Amino acid sequence: MTLDRRTFLRRTAWGAAGLGVAAVAVAGGAGGNAPLPAYDDRSPEPFWRAVRGRYPLSPRLTYFNTGGLGPAAQTVLDRAAAVTRELQEKSEHGHALHEGARATLARFLGADADEIAFVRNATEGNSIIAAGLSLRSGDEVVFETHAHPGGSFPWANQEKLRGVGLKLFEPDPTDAAGNLARITALLTPRTRVLQVSHVTAPTGIVMPVDALARLCRERGIWFHVDGAQSAGMFPFSLHTIGCDSFATSGHKWLGGPLETGVLYVRRDRVDEVAPTLVGSYSGELDFLPGELRLARTAIRFEYGTRSAAAILGLAEAVAFQESIGRERIAARGRWLAARVRAGLEKLPDVEILTPAKPGLSAAMTTFRSPRLAFDRLFERLFKDHAIRCRPVSEQRLNAVRVSTHLFNSPEECDALVARVGEILRRA
Ligand SMILES: Cc1ncc(COP(=O)(O)O)c(C=O)c1O
Repeated sequence: MTLDRRTFLRRTAWGAAGLGVAAVAVAGGAGGNAPLPAYDDRSPEPFWRAVRGRYPLSPRLTYFNTGGLGPAAQTVLDRAAAVTRELQEKSEHGHALHEGARATLARFLGADADEIAFVRNATEGNSIIAAGLSLRSGDEVVFETHAHPGGSFPWANQEKLRGVGLKLFEPDPTDAAGNLARITALLTPRTRVLQVSHVTAPTGIVMPVDALARLCRERGIWFHVDGAQSAGMFPFSLHTIGCDSFATSGHKWLGGPLETGVLYVRRDRVDEVAPTLVGSYSGELDFLPGELRLARTAIRFEYGTRSAAAILGLAEAVAFQESIGRERIAARGRWLAARVRAGLEKLPDVEILTPAKPGLSAAMTTFRSPRLAFDRLFERLFKDHAIRCRPVSEQRLNAVRVSTHLFNSPEECDALVARVGEILRRA
């Protein structure tokens, strides 16, 4: 994390005080569980307002930071609380309950249950892959300069620990073929791993993961996808993509409880990833002394006591998204992003860094203006208007990121554009 990011996180804490000052009026309630009305294509807004009403997210807050942390719907919180209560009544850990959730997450991600491990966050999943693959000094790993610290630090650590060479490419915002070409140009006989963010965190570029998986298979390179920003933003199938491993957060676009994540490792390659943390559930060792036999499934990456309540809450979040429709959610996020873009494009001196080309971006829009420093713009939006975006200091992009998800509304998008316009006019 850069110093800048730390400063922002601190500011965010006191900026939250602005919530009580000048809130943007948004539709929505305080997190009930009322049934959703039927979806009507000709008049969809009542449906989406009811969706918003299922979140306890304050109606005084305009929340555009799902890429940082996604709010959980009431049904998710209720499930987690109920499981906590049931288990506490018996003082049981409920580990066996994970299996139903594992099957749910596997189906959602297009994988098999034994390829899925529950982890605490995307960073942990990325770290398991970076630390677990057998790599030597001089082996090379390729990833993008826009990787989030949760994706880049695990490899920077392997550079320190094992002398792994890091080769970086700048994501091409204009073309999927450009990304393929930039990556291909970095591959050498020493390249052992390619990692990309499925959707890059700073500017929301969607990477051509299917083509990259084919490229890696041809060259015998391990292909890891950091999917922290994609799962829950739009549907995809890991078996169709054909990557070797994939990590995601449960607490962003999926809307699961905090500290939930999923790691997928292809069944036929799981033996190539040595788990770094092991214990009960990772394998078998019946009698000491004896040999530890690691599970030959992704369950080898789980160890010790976990929160079944959080994991079942994550499965509930998946069920909530499926009850609405994954394609419908993806289309809503893209449609709202297009509305934000169209509004921002009309403002003088605003540069949009996220590609407009269909397929190259989805539900995140990153922009900046030479009229006002990005941290000031972020701060004014949050403190004065309770509009929560995300400052983007990575690679000195000096921009502001807007995530649009199922609980956001067109009115919120229009309010954001209007406030940005006002702030920049006065700057
Ligand atoms: C691409 C990417 N990878 C990893 C992370 C870290 O996620 P987590 O906090 O779940 O570890 C993020 C968070 O924003 C991200 O955008």
